[in-house]
Amino acid sequence: MAPPAGLSEDTRAAYERGRLIFNGHFRPSGTQGPDDLVGLGPLYNRISCASCHSAGGRGFPPDGPGDNFLTALVRIGVVDAVGGVTPHPLFGTQIQDRAVPGVDPEAKLSLNWEIQPGKYPDGQAYELRKPSLDIQPDPGALAHWSIRIAQPIRGIGLLEPMILPKDSTGRFGWKASEPTIVMQNAAALAQDMGITNVFHQMPICPKGQTDCGGGSGEISGISLAELTLFTKLLPPPDSTDVKDTKGEYLFHLVGCAACHIPELPSRAGPIPVRAYTDLSLHDMGPGLDDGLPEGDAKSFEWRTPPLWGLAETLAKDRAAPLLHDGRARGPEEAILWHGGEALKSRNDFMALSQEDRNHLLEFLKGL
Ligand code: HEC
Ligand code: HEC
Repeated sequence: MAPPAGLSEDTRAAYERGRLIFNGHFRPSGTQGPDDLVGLGPLYNRISCASCHSAGGRGFPPDGPGDNFLTALVRIGVVDAVGGVTPHPLFGTQIQDRAVPGVDPEAKLSLNWEIQPGKYPDGQAYELRKPSLDIQPDPGALAHWSIRIAQPIRGIGLLEPMILPKDSTGRFGWKASEPTIVMQNAAALAQDMGITNVFHQMPICPKGQTDCGGGSGEISGISLAELTLFTKLLPPPDSTDVKDTKGEYLFHLVGCAACHIPELPSRAGPIPVRAYTDLSLHDMGPGLDDGLPEGDAKSFEWRTPPLWGLAETLAKDRAAPLLHDGRARGPEEAILWHGGEALKSRNDFMALSQEDRNHLLEFLKGL
């Protein structure tokens, strides 16, 4: 995560300070340390941004019941009959499964996977897995929850000024609920680490405790700005030079490019952004509906994720966890989960010959 070339000396220094905040380990208030990264908790998920977004990369879900949530988290809410959401009385809007010494974490999470077998029209078999989460204490019958893996964040500075075909207020997060990177980062500080800031002045307090510090902001506005500058300047991931051109043709033929739009113009300058996304919400059908609406997004709606970076992700792990909860082990399973507005595209993919399906998957491996 070295600074990009061509920064002025001042910007470069701010980038370095932002990088230290991103990688730094926050400590509980009142503890001594080498820096001013204090204010962690009392409830939190992880102690640093980098714990979930290692080197700006994506997270993964637990493998099974014995595994901790390391780079993923759980959103929660109580949903009424007309789809209105209120924070859960015990857990709020996100389960913090860690806490500072002397405080109990909100809950114990245990994730299991249910296997669902399926077949292509040509008879080839596949297996999908669906998460099944146990939360203790029991959140009750009206609670709905949503598992989220950390999103890859390299290149997000180019997504912010991208001109979308259908503009909306939100663009960051799996459900596009945050309008800007600074708001997304401020929410991450507050929700994921318990660090109050200019946008989130109320600390997340455990049930029964009334004084949880915070108030004026445990991180300064300047530090939030430096952190945000750093995240905005992270260069986009590299793609490979060689592309599977037959696969690229098929990507367009079966309609993937309707949502994963290869390239869109930018307000920031003449160079378009090649991120393979429209950053818009789409109905993805019942298979990906986890029952929890968020902001303007219904429970079955998700933001089209950029596909840039698949080359790097899949070079490290061919079965890298994809989709909002990491249920897909690699891009093929991700496609097979597409439904709703993307159902036709998924069915057309399934109807391709195995050879053509492999061309399309090969193309994705180069993005
Ligand atoms: C506990 C793990 C975790 C920690 C810690 C964490 N994040 Fe995230 N991050 C996530 C998850 C999960 C999402 C997706 C959120 C959602 O949609 O619900 C996300 C999304 C983001 C996004 C949006 C990317 C996009 O394409 O829309 C940015 C930017 C981001 N995080 C920055 C940060 C920063 C900066 C920090 C430190 C202050 C941080 N994160 C700490 C898990 C984490
Ligand atoms: C109607 C819009 C739409 C169409 C058409 C569509 N997608 Fe998607 N795609 C999405 C959305 C939305 C998600 C995120 C779903 C989620 O996280 O649960 C997604 C997720 C993915 C992912 C996982 C990315 C990640 O970072 O986790 C891959 C890979 C993908 N799509 C490839 C394809 C391919 C290939 C096609 C064509 C066969 C296709 N998509 C067609 C909207 C679409």
